[in-house]
Amino acid sequence: MKCFWRLGPKFAINLFPLAVAPLASKFPGMKYRALGRTGWRVSEISFGAWAIGGAWGKVNDQESLATLHAALDGGVNFFDTADVYGDGRSERLLAKLKKERKEKFYIATKAGRRLPQQTSDGYNRKNLTAFINRSLKNLNAETIDLLQLHCPPTEVYYQPEVFGILDDFATEGKLRHYGVSVERVEEALKAIEFPNVQSVQIIFNIFRQRPAELFFKEAERRKVGILARVPLASGLLSGRMSHASKFAKDDHRNFNRHGEAFDRGETFSGVDFATGLSVVEELKKLVPAGASLAQFALRWILEFPAVTCAIPGAKRPAQVRDNIAASELPGLSKDSLRGIERLYETRIKPLVHPYW
Ligand SMILES: NC(=O)c1ccc[n+]([C@@H]2O[C@H](COP(=O)([O-])OP(=O)(O)OC[C@H]3O[C@@H](n4cnc5c(N)ncnc54)[C@H](OP(=O)(O)O)[C@@H]3O)[C@@H](O)[C@H]2O)c1
Repeated sequence: MKCFWRLGPKFAINLFPLAVAPLASKFPGMKYRALGRTGWRVSEISFGAWAIGGAWGKVNDQESLATLHAALDGGVNFFDTADVYGDGRSERLLAKLKKERKEKFYIATKAGRRLPQQTSDGYNRKNLTAFINRSLKNLNAETIDLLQLHCPPTEVYYQPEVFGILDDFATEGKLRHYGVSVERVEEALKAIEFPNVQSVQIIFNIFRQRPAELFFKEAERRKVGILARVPLASGLLSGRMSHASKFAKDDHRNFNRHGEAFDRGETFSGVDFATGLSVVEELKKLVPAGASLAQFALRWILEFPAVTCAIPGAKRPAQVRDNIAASELPGLSKDSLRGIERLYETRIKPLVHPYW
């Protein structure tokens, strides 16, 4: 496993664009990394805005907005959302945040999941135009910073015309940059053959390590940004769950454990809950004093220089503060890294490695 042992001084904030410089200087604890060839530098701990939209049990907009403010307060300058998160609720909350704050930040949204059925021919100009126009309205924006195809069927990566349509949207000014969100490593490898794909969003965490084998090297070679999603394995890697944990009916950790509604890999990273809990108990023994397991899990992701940022979700300001602090942690010790590798190889790999 190729690991990045220490983030050297070259990763300190230096080429930060003027527009976002105030954030950088205000938050010395947060580090920023280049996102593909966009010229943007984004917070290595960014924010995933699925849970504040829906499918994670009850949320209230006031608390969600406070959580978004806490993220900005901590130096986060990149937010990932989608048109389908709460049917636009998540995008609208981000529009509200933009209205309430002066700082410049980036919003990445996604398109494609509004299709009633996931078929590759649905990814056409008419449908994508309608989805993007709706997102622009929700975000109260004239241009989308980063538009990602939302885990489309694999065939879409064999349809150059879809990427041609995205190029046209960029020329028209509907979007600045585009990327993809994928389920599988093979889709990621295929997607980055398209020269204007700037980012790939993929599940990457202690319980999902295959992207680091080949894909990271290829993405680095092509200067494509990597957004590590589900970094806490749906909260499992926070260490706060137990066999007694209960999840609401409308929480995917209740209704999608076996892939009943969407890819089962999106829930607990595809690891069954009981095994996940038992490995988490072993991981807790590796966490350095003073750090939380969530920070340890996020810090592990940041050891990989190919990763642009992790995008943990959060529903409460305290969670976001906990997560942000991972950027300040020193690099993990060799013993911790070896311990993680051993647990992955022996307990997790057979459950996930062959599938995604
Ligand atoms: N297909 C796609 O493109 C796709 C799919 C999945 C995710 N994503 C993106 O990736 C982002 C991140 O993934 P995710 O939200 O699915 O999973 P995640 O980041 O692994 O887990 C997020 C959840 O963990 C819990 N949590 C977060 N920080 C915590 C802390 N410090 N201590 C304790 N618990 C904590 C919260 O839930 P509770 O408090 O309820 O436990 C939170 O909602 C999403 O928000 C979304 O933007 C994209």
